[in-house]
Amino acid sequence: MAFPVQRLRRLRSGEPIRRLVRETQLAPSQFILPLFVCPGEGVRREIGSMPGHAQLSIDNVVPECEECLALGLGGVILFGIPEHKDEMASGAYADDGITQRAVRAIKKAHPKLLVMTDVCNCEYTSHGHCGFIKDGDVDNDITLEWLAKTAVSHARAGADVVAPSDMMDGRVAAIRKGLDAAGFSNTPILSYAAKYSSVFYSPFRDAAESAPQFGDRRSYQMDPTNSREAMREIELDLEEGADMIMVKPALAYLDIIHEARRRFDVPIGAYHVSGEYSMVMAAVEKGWLDLERTMFEVLTSIRRAGADFILTYFSKIAADLLP
Ligand code: PBG
Repeated sequence: MAFPVQRLRRLRSGEPIRRLVRETQLAPSQFILPLFVCPGEGVRREIGSMPGHAQLSIDNVVPECEECLALGLGGVILFGIPEHKDEMASGAYADDGITQRAVRAIKKAHPKLLVMTDVCNCEYTSHGHCGFIKDGDVDNDITLEWLAKTAVSHARAGADVVAPSDMMDGRVAAIRKGLDAAGFSNTPILSYAAKYSSVFYSPFRDAAESAPQFGDRRSYQMDPTNSREAMREIELDLEEGADMIMVKPALAYLDIIHEARRRFDVPIGAYHVSGEYSMVMAAVEKGWLDLERTMFEVLTSIRRAGADFILTYFSKIAADLLP
C-alpha cells in the first residue's frame, strides 16, 4: 500500500506529533566536556581556534566543573599541560602531575561529577609524540609501561574513568593489569579504540601544546581509509578488557560508529573533536551557519549513527539549550 494511503507527511505536520515519533534524543547526560588544565593560578588562556575554550589553571577548572554539574553533563575529560616536558613524559605519571592535581581538586569540590582522564603522553613529551622514541619511531612496549603508570596515578588521584588515546597495541591490557595490581579493579577503561590519524585534531594540538615536533602520528593512529581495521581495533580492546569504546573523530566517521553499534553491545562514545567544533564556529562567526541548528544537527547525527555519548566542546552550550 503506497500513496495515496501512505502519507509520511502526516507525522510531520506539527511539533507535538514530530516530538512523539522522534527516534533520536539528546540529553545533557550524554555529553562529556573536554577541559585543558594548565599550571599557575588565575590562568584563563583563550584558545584562538576554539572560541569559548581556554587553558585553565586548577583554581579556574573547579568552578567550571561546578557549572558542568549544574548543567547535568555526563562528565568531563581532562587534558593536562605540564610545566615541563621531557623525553620520558615524566609529567604524565607523576603523582603530583598537573592532571593528578586537577583530579584531586575537582573530586574534592565536586565528588558527584564524573571525571575522566585522557591517558596519553603527547602533552608530556618534549617531541610531542605519544610515547618513547626509539630509532625515530614510537616504541610500543616501553610506552605501555608509561601508560599503565599514568592510568594508575590518575586512578589514585580519584579519576572515575581512564581513557587511553595513544593507540599503542596492548595498552588496554597493560592498563587493566596495572590498575588491578594497584587495587583499582573497579576503575573502568574507556578506550579510544578506533582513533584515526586526522587533520581534525589540529586546533587541539594548539590547545594542548602537543603537536609532534617531527613526522606525524601515522605509525600508530589509524589510516582514515580503513573501516574493517577499526572493528579489529575495537574487538582487541574489548578482549583486553575495555569497558567502553570510542570512535574518533565523529562526523567524518559516522559509518564506523554505525558499524561498531551493529557489532558490539558495549557503550560507545564518539569524540566530536576540536577541528569539527572549530569548523562550525568559524562558519557561525562568518554568519554562514546558525550555531544552535548546526550544533544540534551534528550532535543528533552522531547519536543517530549509534553513539551512546559524545565528547564535545559543545557540551555546555548544548546542555544549556536543551529543554
Ligand atoms: C592525545 C589526544 C588528542 C586528542 C585527544 N587526545 C590529540 C592527538 O591525538 O593528536 C584530540 C582531541 C581533539 O582534537 O579535540 N593523544
